[in-house]
Amino acid sequence: MSQQITEQSVEQSYALYRQALELIPGGAQLISRRPELYSLGLTPPYVSRGKGSRFWDLDENEYVDLMMCVGASILGYADDAVDAAVIDQIRQGTAYSVSHPLEYELARELTSIIPCAEMVRYCKGGGEADAIAVRIARGYTGREKVLFCGYHGWHDWYLAANLESGSVLDTHLLPGIQPKGVPHGLAGTALPFRYNDLNSLEEQLERNQGQVAAIILEASRGASLPAPGFLEGVRALATAHGAVLIFDEVVTGFRLGLGGAQTQFGVTPDLATYAKAISNGYAMGAVVGRRAIMEVVGDMFVSSTYWSDAVGLAASLATIRELRRRDGFTKIAAFGKRFQQQLEAMAAEFELPLRCAGLPQQFAITATSGDARQKRAMKDYYVQEMTRRGVFTSFGVSPCYAHSDEDLDLISAAWREVFPLMREALQHDDWEQRITARSIDAFKRQVG
Ligand SMILES: Cc1ncc(COP(=O)(O)O)c(C=O)c1O
Repeated sequence: MSQQITEQSVEQSYALYRQALELIPGGAQLISRRPELYSLGLTPPYVSRGKGSRFWDLDENEYVDLMMCVGASILGYADDAVDAAVIDQIRQGTAYSVSHPLEYELARELTSIIPCAEMVRYCKGGGEADAIAVRIARGYTGREKVLFCGYHGWHDWYLAANLESGSVLDTHLLPGIQPKGVPHGLAGTALPFRYNDLNSLEEQLERNQGQVAAIILEASRGASLPAPGFLEGVRALATAHGAVLIFDEVVTGFRLGLGGAQTQFGVTPDLATYAKAISNGYAMGAVVGRRAIMEVVGDMFVSSTYWSDAVGLAASLATIRELRRRDGFTKIAAFGKRFQQQLEAMAAEFELPLRCAGLPQQFAITATSGDARQKRAMKDYYVQEMTRRGVFTSFGVSPCYAHSDEDLDLISAAWREVFPLMREALQHDDWEQRITARSIDAFKRQVG
């Protein structure tokens, strides 16, 4: 894999992308898959196949992937054991007129590994799981307001946050999101609080006494880790105000370990949502939680045909089994740690203000000095030059089980070429001349 990717090497991908833009608004189903977020003209819009930690684009260029399907592919692409379980299930049928016993089997697994899980419902994705959890919390408490921190998907309950000021979500989801299509009647129902700032949560609870159905947050994300006492404080405030505490474990779930952030940080919410890494790339989501709260779902209209789909159930069971059998989290964390150490050592060698922040299973590369323009340029130039060398990355890194020493050698060899270029750019402050394709400002998520 000693290729140099140029704008000409990804021509087929871009030809298709231009055609697709005529038929598919926005060009991609997930905003994070839009190439303009990375290095437009160089970042391939289309994949032809993937295996382990690598994928091949439509033009047959090979990449080491550090994003792994926005973190969902925890074991790696086309994992033989998970795929065998899925293929076996497909041969027997995937969705029927009645439920499949795998629903119960997975429920038993989830209730044994997730601290807050006494009952379980399924769905097909993270945003959907969050919407269900919020509905349950509203149904259980009879209240309407939701206090949130972090990113929680695309549904009305969440985007309603931007109805009043238009910029509330700037520091949680994406700057400049317009809540087009979200009913104005929802204004004032989704209210933000700041990560690691208990006062901001307390103020919201006091201002909305007796009206808060749920507090939902990502317990950690990328570079943002909970300050000592923060999650415990959130737990105590939720209990004191009678609000349902929901951990959005869509990213942390099955990434920080089986059980997710609540196991990692030792704080148990009332409900939690899982998707992405729980099924290694097959569509699956789950809402889990305390029996007293979950039981109300039996009397609510929360129902959908493909939530019973046995492919996602089989994939999820196989993913849990394989993570356990291969001691997956130890290996993933060890790779992440080595990556962090090597990056920081080489950044120091080339006097670049780059650090890794967050847990080795999911972290972010951060620029530790420079103004906002320089930090942004540093990221754009890094992404551009790493892409040229066959490393598909952003500043967020999601290691998977399939990442190997060989991958790290290749990444490290790329750093050895890219870091001196970044050093020069830093010295001359001529980033703009070097960046051929600037990223745009969509889907820029910040939690802390
Ligand atoms: C914390 C969090 N919650 C919810 C979602 C939405 O999940 P999905 O894209 O599966 O709807 C995401 C997606 O990135 C997420 O990061």
